[in-house]
This record gives sequence, C-alpha cells and structure tokens, in this order.
Amino acid sequence: MERWVVDISEWDPSPEDLTFSLSLLPPSDQSSVTRFVRVEDRKRALVSRLLQYALVLEVLAIPYHQLVINRTLEGKPYLECGDICLDFPNFNFNVSHHGDYVAIASEPLCLVGVDIVSIVIPQAETVPEFLQSFSSYFSSFEWHNICTAGTTHDMLIEFYRYWCLKEAFVKATGSGLVDNLYKVEFHHSCWENISVNIEGKATREWRFWLLELGKNHLVSVARGHPKLASASYKRTLRQTEFDEKEYLAALHLPNVGFVSRTVEQLISSFTQRTSTAHREVY
Ligand code: COA
Ligand code: MG
Repeated sequence: MERWVVDISEWDPSPEDLTFSLSLLPPSDQSSVTRFVRVEDRKRALVSRLLQYALVLEVLAIPYHQLVINRTLEGKPYLECGDICLDFPNFNFNVSHHGDYVAIASEPLCLVGVDIVSIVIPQAETVPEFLQSFSSYFSSFEWHNICTAGTTHDMLIEFYRYWCLKEAFVKATGSGLVDNLYKVEFHHSCWENISVNIEGKATREWRFWLLELGKNHLVSVARGHPKLASASYKRTLRQTEFDEKEYLAALHLPNVGFVSRTVEQLISSFTQRTSTAHREVY
C-alpha cells in the first residue's frame, strides 16, 4: 500500500528536462502528454505517468521491460500483471491531478480510487450559483449540509469535500460514470469515520479518507471490495471473491499517509530499473 504526492509547482523543468522525462515513457504515453498545449497540463499528465511507472517499479521491484500499463475502455490505467505480482492478487493503483498536486495510491487487494481537488473560488458567478449547477450530484441530506455549512466559503469547502469523495468512489470502481451519484450518500463525523449509503442502504464494503494536502487542496482515498469494480476493470483483477476474513483484513488495514516525492526521485526509479533510458517498443 503506497500513497505518493508530487507538488508540481516545485518542478520547473527546462525544455531538455521535459524531453528527457518524456523519453522515459512508452510512445503511447508520450502522445498522451504532448497532446496538451499548456505547459501546466503537460506537467500534470507527465508526472501522472511517471508516478504510475515509478510506483509499480518500486513496489514490485521488477525491471522496466517487464512493466506494461494499459487502460480499460473507460480509461482507468492498470498493470498487465502476467506472473509478476503473485504476492498481491489485485495490485492496483489510481492517480489524480488538480492544481499544484499529482497523487497516486495503490492497494494490494482492495480497489483504490484517489481524487484531488484544488478549492477554487468561482469568478464568473456567485458561490450559490456555482453550487446550484451541481446540485443533482448530491442527496438531499448532502445538499442540506452544503447549503447550511455557514458562510459561502464554508459552503464551497463542504461541496468540494463531498465532491472529492464521490470522485474517489467513481474512480475506484473504474466506471467513470456520473449518473446517479446522488444515490451514493456520504456520512461522517468531522470528516473522519466516513461511511457511505448506496441507494439508501448502509454498506460496509467501502472505506474512505479525506485529507488536506495544503495550499487549499484536498485529497480523498476510497478503498472497496474488488467485486464492486466495473465490468472492464474487474477483468484486470486476479481475484474478486474472497472469504470474509481475508477481505475484512485487507479493508481494515490502516491507511498510510501521503509521502511527498520529487520528479527527480521518480526519474531515478526508472534509471535504476532499466539499462537504457529508452524502452523497446516491441
Ligand atoms: N476510472 C478511474 N480512474 C480513471 C478513469 C476511470 N474510468 N479514467 C482515467 N482515470 C485515471 C487516469 O489515471 C487519469 O489520469 P491520467 O490520464 O493522467 O493517467 C486520472 O484518473 C484523472 O483523474 P483526475 O485527475 O481526478 O481527473 P478528473 O477528476 O477530471 O477525472 C474521471 C475523473 C476520470 C473519473 C472522469 O471520468 C470524470 O470526471 N468523471 C465524472 C465524475 C463525476 O461526475 N463526478 C461528480 C462528483 S460529485
Ligand atoms: Mg478529479
């Protein structure tokens, strides 16, 4: 289980640095980065991919040429396992980027979803107008909590907390689906002991954490039962049924905090695990 975060505002690469970092990635990942025009977007997309490869290289201690990361139809990246991750039946990871941060979380058995939000104050409209356009994503209980949170700033923060949790949930399943999120209702005590009701029923198959990253950013992590993955993501897992004891042990592993990484550290994970910086394409 790993949690890593990179503050991209601290990385100011020269054009040569960017070209070198990009060259570490397989060609299909390179084009997913270069399709962005703005430098900040390129940095986020690049660091997202560096994090994914560096984390897998480090956790599984495999050589780079054995590492293949693919995406499901809905776009969720996953490791093509072959026989390289027998110790962790469902080794899976998820990335998020917003504002200054890019983060990754991995789990050995349970599904994992991560989401970052940068709390941005709307400029073109008032906070209530901004929030209103998202009201359909929330249950009446959540919406009431948002609307009665206090000042408009408090309302905005309450909104982003719920949003961040819902995103982590959607991302853990891999569905990418936006429909019916009002049926996924979060409960908490001071944003700890977070639980979820799905379609009105309390479920014990999920755990959530919501943390402050600093500089007005939040990060949430969702951990759930592998059988709850979307059909296409389920196909990437080795084991989706567990006896209750084994599954509960994995669900209730203590969460670990996010460790700050630099881009240079990520790059060194690559260079330590490959004889040449470039990957063979075939
Ligand atoms: N499931 C899980 N992860 C996915 C995914 C999927 N279907 N598709 C892509 N990802 C991963 C990728 O790693 C991607 O980064 P990369 O392309 O650099 O590798 C990363 O998630 C993007 O996550 P994030 O930075 O948090 O972006 P986002 O919040 O804009 O996108 C998605 C999240 C991918 C789930 C997107 O489908 C989405 O926004 N869906 C809408 C969900 C919604 O309406 N939520 C409302 C909450 S109230
Ligand atoms: Mg997001």
